[in-house]
Amino acid sequence: MASLTVRKLDEALKASLRLRAAQNGRSVEDEVRMILREAAERPAAASVPRAPETKAATRSTRTHAAADRPRLTLIIGGGIAAYKALDLIRRLKDRGIHVRCVMTRAAQQFVTPLTAGALADERCYTDLFDAQSEFDAGHIRLARDTDLIVVAPATADLMAKMAQGHADDLATAILLATNRPVLLAPAMNPLMWINAATRRNVAQLARDGAHFIGPNSGEMAEANEAGVGRMSEPLEIAAAADALLRPPPARSLSGKRILITAGPTHEPIDPVRYIANRSSGKQGFAIAASAAAAGADVTLISGPVDLDDPAGVHVIHVESARDMLAQVEAALPADIAIFAAAVADWRVANAGEQKIKKTSGGMPQLALVENPDILATVSKLRQNRPALVIGFAAETENLIENATSKLKRKGCDWIVANDVSPSTGIMGGDRNTVHVLTLDNGNVAVDSWPVMTKEDVAEALVAKIAATRA
Ligand SMILES: Cc1cc2nc3c(=O)[nH]c(=O)nc-3n(C[C@H](O)[C@H](O)[C@H](O)COP(=O)(O)O)c2cc1C
Repeated sequence: MASLTVRKLDEALKASLRLRAAQNGRSVEDEVRMILREAAERPAAASVPRAPETKAATRSTRTHAAADRPRLTLIIGGGIAAYKALDLIRRLKDRGIHVRCVMTRAAQQFVTPLTAGALADERCYTDLFDAQSEFDAGHIRLARDTDLIVVAPATADLMAKMAQGHADDLATAILLATNRPVLLAPAMNPLMWINAATRRNVAQLARDGAHFIGPNSGEMAEANEAGVGRMSEPLEIAAAADALLRPPPARSLSGKRILITAGPTHEPIDPVRYIANRSSGKQGFAIAASAAAAGADVTLISGPVDLDDPAGVHVIHVESARDMLAQVEAALPADIAIFAAAVADWRVANAGEQKIKKTSGGMPQLALVENPDILATVSKLRQNRPALVIGFAAETENLIENATSKLKRKGCDWIVANDVSPSTGIMGGDRNTVHVLTLDNGNVAVDSWPVMTKEDVAEALVAKIAATRA
């Protein structure tokens, strides 16, 4: 075997090795040994067929080289929700997070280490007494060679063991040996969750510094069971993990007043029927949340949606396009306006005051009239026009061409164009592929972004606004 003299390395490399070693609680020599071992293992891992690359990388995978990606250890406990942990791996990777999986014995009754390993691109660890990884105290390495530990699902049993300081399997040994933050996503039957023992264990773990996400309330896997105990959705857990891993964004929009519209509008036909569209409001809500996180004073005017109001945002709920325009005008002046709502182009001219009855005299004739154009109205204001007006263009064909003509016609400054053909799944879905068209001295510049979660699109848009306004 070749021997290596650490003293012969240059000073910068030595300093970085010392830092890494200190962070991982190892000697510099042990750290070098680990690096060599991981490098030697890599070709074997690379021979495992990888899932095909998605069409475009996400923001995070674009911007995070492997070396600076945050590292997360995902401990999968033995509950029905273990299957959701597999989706969580994908959601975390979408955010540019390196994921290493550990499974309890019970978890392997629900999902296989092979699947978790293939999704994470790295073997899934299962055994405390694993000859291969224990020659260098593998459980200590797994406990320290990470920036965050997430337990999902966190079973009642696993939390009981943690609260008591047990370490009789790999998962609990890692959790006891770590000095990294721990995020627990509990999942269990509602009666297990409210049991006095679980309450005591959860309270103890919170006192010990563990972070919690969920559980949510809803239907259980068991027939006729509902209540609090459902594991939080993978997207929610990934967002909570990301928030613990990365420092909060710079408050780049501090002092700015931002007006945002979101969701569909409902145009009444009569008191019980309406014309609507498939907008979910998710993109506008995500932009409002990102802008608020960046320090802006945000007013969100939303059509009817099935979403919780984002924290720290002043939300006004409306129904129709005319209500939305009235609230937009009342919310001015603002520094920036972002019109993400899918406002109905038309409404029924004479909406019935009473429910229109089905009669033998034939079908009711619905005459349509044009709704006010909120984007054009605000873009063309002489007084109180926000310094930056951004519209959204939802198109099903000739995306860039139609968005370019919309940008010029409406008099706004930017258009965020997205293809909402049913095949894209964008309308109502969690991801978006957008092109940001900006007008500069009469010339249109197109910035095409890869497919991203709507949260990532929101963050990128807020960053672009902050960069432009700086
Ligand atoms: C079908 C089935 C589903 C289960 N689901 C859960 C669950 O959702 N939450 C939980 O805390 N325990 C659940 N359990 C019990 C755990 O599997 C059991 O407590 C196990 O010891 C947990 O091991 P672990 O915490 O090491 O993963 C379930 C058991 C079975 C047989």
